Amino acid sequence: MQVTASAHRVHLFSPLSSPALSLPSAKHCRCRNRNAAATTVRMGLREDGPSVAVVGVTGAVGQEFLRVLSDRNFPYRNIRLLASRRSAGKRLTFEDREYTIEELRPESFEGIDIALFSAGGSISKEFGPVAVERGSIVVDNSSAFRMVPEVPLVIPEVNPEAMAHIKLKGRSGKGALIANPNCSTIICLMAATPLHRHAKVVRMVVSTYQAASGAGAAAMEELLQQTHEVLDGKQPTCKIFNQQYAFNLFSHNAAVLSNGYNEEEMKLVKETRKIWNDMDVKVTATCIRVPVMRAHAESVNLQFEKPLDEDTARCILEGAAGVAVIDDRESNHFPTPLDVSNKDDVAVGRIRQDLSQDGNLGLDIFVCGDQIRKGAALNAIQIAEKLL
Ligand SMILES: NC(=O)c1ccc[n+]([C@@H]2O[C@H](COP(=O)([O-])OP(=O)(O)OC[C@H]3O[C@@H](n4cnc5c(N)ncnc54)[C@H](OP(=O)(O)O)[C@@H]3O)[C@@H](O)[C@H]2O)c1
Repeated sequence: MQVTASAHRVHLFSPLSSPALSLPSAKHCRCRNRNAAATTVRMGLREDGPSVAVVGVTGAVGQEFLRVLSDRNFPYRNIRLLASRRSAGKRLTFEDREYTIEELRPESFEGIDIALFSAGGSISKEFGPVAVERGSIVVDNSSAFRMVPEVPLVIPEVNPEAMAHIKLKGRSGKGALIANPNCSTIICLMAATPLHRHAKVVRMVVSTYQAASGAGAAAMEELLQQTHEVLDGKQPTCKIFNQQYAFNLFSHNAAVLSNGYNEEEMKLVKETRKIWNDMDVKVTATCIRVPVMRAHAESVNLQFEKPLDEDTARCILEGAAGVAVIDDRESNHFPTPLDVSNKDDVAVGRIRQDLSQDGNLGLDIFVCGDQIRKGAALNAIQIAEKLL
């Protein structure tokens, strides 16, 4: 893994960044557009900022953490960059200062106020509680703690109230865990929640088209390598997924459970119930890996308790924070993974009445979101911003 010369300028996967989606203005909507640019905290390195640690800094999400922290001028007194023994000692420049990547150890969390974790579930399980014991607030990207009842599972635009009781140590709080939902869940609920608030979703059917980046930096490298190999007429190297990924698609690589669903699909089911605090909502999902480098797409079918017509739905989505509507039927332009790559907003289109449901009780939508950004790093840093 190559460490970037300047994490905010020469990013490992995405050299260009323009976080807010630029979209045509709403033609038919009379609602006020509340989709303001993401909150910016313009402070950066400063004495009164929290002390921050990034765990898994060399990974796909870890690199994005640095970029988002920098893009949003997140205030920090100091920052500790942590990874495995393999990366320890490597140098990394962040915001024009050089840092040495340190090996993750229990002592790494001494004096740390906010620890952003993205090094996998087993690392979170081992070191998350250690960090909490030392007074850090851990924002964890893995699935280790998501379904623990007392751990808030938060999308700031959806359920910020779930973490309202958590305060930084310096503000009479103490160490705590906050879980970042699964990337597919975040992208889906960013679009479905504004509609749910209006008409109450009773059933949701999700079909995903998930990018390589969701499986980390090595999977992205393998997709690139396989693409070259196939085009050169060579046998593709299959290490990460054990099957050809380039020019192919397959059921998500998560473990398949005894009920026939895979773990990724069950995350959508269980996390939606927890985030919406609605144990009755019916959710089913089919998760597919597609050979897209970055950003997930999801087809979402919604059934409502109360009628909701498509014009009202479009209007609601145009006014939703963190959501951009791309729904141009005339030119057949709808959200694509490329539209949302390196962007903060989740894009929604194909907004239409579900013909199979009577009485305006069903809608189909198509959602795309950058799952390394809003599906992981950005969501976690928005959570951290709520602690400031
Ligand atoms: N990719 C996504 O879109 C996404 C979205 C949501 C959540 N997540 C979650 O975020 C986590 C990381 O995903 P990723 O895609 O960024 O993976 P990745 O690219 O494979 O990166 C893994 C990171 O974990 C570090 N690591 C591995 N073993 C370690 C150890 N023993 N001690 C300390 N650090 C260790 C690696 O450091 P070295 O380089 O030193 O090995 C690297 O920085 C996973 O839990 C994943 O489920 C990922």
